[in-house]
Amino acid sequence: MAKLTVPRGTRDVLPDEWRVRHRVLDAARRRFEAAGYGRIMTPTFEHTEVFARGAGETSDIVTKEMYTFQDRSERSLTLRPEGTAAVARAYVEQGLHREPQPVKLWYFAPMFRYEKPQEGRYREHWQIGAEAFGSDHPAVDAELIVLLAGLYTELGVPGVTLRLNSIGDASSRAAYREQLVTFLRAHETQLDEDSRARVDTNPLRVFDSKVPATIALMRDAPKVTDSLDPASAAHFATLQELLTAAGVTFALDPSLVRGLDYYSRTVFEFSCSGLGAQDAVGGGGRYDGLVESLGGPATPAVGFGCGIERVLLAMAAGGDPAPVASADVYVCVAEESERAGAFKLVQALRAQDLRVEQDLAGRSLKGQLKQASRLGAAIAVVARAEGWQAQEMRGRVEHPLSRDGSAAVQVAALVRTAAATSGT
Ligand code: HAM
Repeated sequence: MAKLTVPRGTRDVLPDEWRVRHRVLDAARRRFEAAGYGRIMTPTFEHTEVFARGAGETSDIVTKEMYTFQDRSERSLTLRPEGTAAVARAYVEQGLHREPQPVKLWYFAPMFRYEKPQEGRYREHWQIGAEAFGSDHPAVDAELIVLLAGLYTELGVPGVTLRLNSIGDASSRAAYREQLVTFLRAHETQLDEDSRARVDTNPLRVFDSKVPATIALMRDAPKVTDSLDPASAAHFATLQELLTAAGVTFALDPSLVRGLDYYSRTVFEFSCSGLGAQDAVGGGGRYDGLVESLGGPATPAVGFGCGIERVLLAMAAGGDPAPVASADVYVCVAEESERAGAFKLVQALRAQDLRVEQDLAGRSLKGQLKQASRLGAAIAVVARAEGWQAQEMRGRVEHPLSRDGSAAVQVAALVRTAAATSGT
């Protein structure tokens, strides 16, 4: 029989990776909730129109990458390729625009894009994202950028840099677009085929070309920041001031436009030097027109998405992190006569919120102690007929244990002492 495998561009996530994912997720959750962002979950699929109207009819995501299918009632549905349009749909549908603004939300969710898979680029990836609706103040843009920068620092993601740009409001972008199209038409013969096709549909995206000749040509293209409307220019200046005050280092990049049609004013991207071609570990920007285009009231908004697989790759590239212990206590059953008592101790320890494992594989005592050390347990309990002992795995100091209910209290105290002395 043919071997069954995951579909191309998708992957199984096993417990070892989840241990690191949880660290990332716990840190994100703590940071976002401390800053007043509440978690939101939207469905994994939506009516296709949410993304077609939201992400934009000319973006690569909508034109080439969506997983779209008809359900049995012949409705067109799409697996979520990105979170922003879905969260904006929920903001309108759930009446969140009637609550005190800004409404600040975060999510951790899988995204689906039919892209060419490679290291760091998958057809299913997970994003940690945050979106803030209802304020056009640059302090919101700054708050989000500072939150994400702080997360990378806390996680020890090495070599992260931030690029920043403003693409202005709709009117200044339309004027800029005209200038850019004139420039591109004048140099049409120097453009690669994909970029030539974009001149009419989405000329700003020519800046995203990876073709060296096009990259060289675009260095001479008119810069969006030179034709910003005064309000967007002031917005951008305040954002830079706030970031500088918060100690966040950034580089201005007038060629940064990002691949989704909904952006206006601020756009930003975090890259990581150790990652090769797929080096964007997070990105976002302002999308002041999106909520209205989805049928809601005119609502300024800003947010970001951060690809967790790439964050993990970057963390791994930065050196092997210290192995994360998966148990605090390992209970060894040296003789079957002690099984029931040991089993009871395991439950009592788990009830105290300790991470506890026990022998379930019939290993020898030596094998069980080896397993305890593999799991990183601080304490091994050895249950023998002639008496129970708790053994400190580091230092091998042994402590006799009583067999009554007080054993759990004794072991918990030993775990706390071990944690305090190892500084964890
Ligand atoms: P995005 O730049 O398309 O933006 O994706 C955000 C992040 O998701 C990227 O920086 C990258 O880390 C990760 N990512 C994207 N595609 C893949 C892939 N195929 N495989 C692995 N990781 C990937 C958005 O999706 C916007 N919704 C962000 C946003 C939120 N803008 C405003 N609010």
